[in-house]
Amino acid sequence: MSVYDPMAAIYDDWAADMTEDVDFYVSLAREANGPVVELAVGTGRVAIPVAEAIGRRVIGIDASPAMLAEARRRAQAARVDLDLRLGDMRALALDEPAALVICPFRSLLHLPTWADRRIVFERVAAALRPGGRFAWNAFVFDPAVAVEIDGVWREEHGIRHRVDYAPADCRIDVTLEAGPAFSLWWVSPSEWAGLLDVSGLELEALYGWFDRRAFAEGSREFVCVARRPEPGRA
Ligand SMILES: C[S@@+](CC[C@H](N)C(=O)[O-])C[C@H]1O[C@@H](n2cnc3c(N)ncnc32)[C@H](O)[C@@H]1O
Repeated sequence: MSVYDPMAAIYDDWAADMTEDVDFYVSLAREANGPVVELAVGTGRVAIPVAEAIGRRVIGIDASPAMLAEARRRAQAARVDLDLRLGDMRALALDEPAALVICPFRSLLHLPTWADRRIVFERVAAALRPGGRFAWNAFVFDPAVAVEIDGVWREEHGIRHRVDYAPADCRIDVTLEAGPAFSLWWVSPSEWAGLLDVSGLELEALYGWFDRRAFAEGSREFVCVARRPEPGRA
């Protein structure tokens, strides 16, 4: 049982505002000359269009059986080949080195501690072929947003929910009135840089949105592309 199991039935509505990321991840997948993997694949919202675009199997890993069941159903309906695996991204291990690992829609923020994040980055680095890419996105903590929404019941796409901030733990607790609840831990720019450093990955690009505008003061999203260095290349 995963905290995301009760989200599977309502995930489309929950994710309705997140659409612009799909083309971004598809374009990276088109450039990938080898296996493509999505960590925390969920219902296949991104993996299915990626598999459609590249005409190859995409590996998807997720900790929620219910989210994976939904992904399996949708992949069959779309007639695309997803290799769906129940598992924790902290235990990532692949038989064949990947050309691209993606982790869309802030899923890395489900990891509560620095140690958890470091393990994932190290596992990703080990799973990539030289020159392979790791791409992910995550929200930027904004105190103005926190002041506005902290503890306030809101309704979006028919889902009544609230977000409670726990700044001492860099955490938000998301509670849906219908029952599901989960937490996210935000990450600072220097922490992303540290994770790249310890895992031996190098930053290729840091964008402030999926249209590839540069990350700048006021950006609301980290959109990151990192690369496993190729031997002999500086
Ligand atoms: C916001 S959804 C993102 C799903 C999908 N990537 C997308 O973009 O729509 C977060 C997903 O992360 C999964 N998840 C959370 N922690 C995980 C972990 N440690 N390992 C694998 N999956 C995890 C949840 O089960 C859920 O399906």
